[in-house]
Amino acid sequence: MGVLEGAQVKTIEGLSEKGDHPVQEAWRDLNVAQCGYCQAGQIMQAAALVDQYDTVTDDDIDAVMSANICRCGTYPRIRAAIKQAAGQQASGAAMDADVRKRSRSDA
Ligand code: FES
Repeated sequence: MGVLEGAQVKTIEGLSEKGDHPVQEAWRDLNVAQCGYCQAGQIMQAAALVDQYDTVTDDDIDAVMSANICRCGTYPRIRAAIKQAAGQQASGAAMDADVRKRSRSDA
């Protein structure tokens, strides 16, 4: 912890005030979490990726997320949520609402 002295550390509680970061919304839309144990780390890593790039490839996701282990095997839903979140950021609020509407009608 000594190396963090003076540094800012963002936790999942600080990701967004209302829990409405595109990654958090995609996680809810796609019901990513299973037991939840790994999810804070998965979401924070995914948010760092999505905040940095408008679109992400499977290779980008594999490279960035590979150190985050999920014993429940939610990897396919994590991948889909990251892609959805990246799309939301690229297209804005209109697409965000459309994606949520489509997700509900597909259920
Ligand atoms: S959701 Fe259970 S370990 Fe990832």
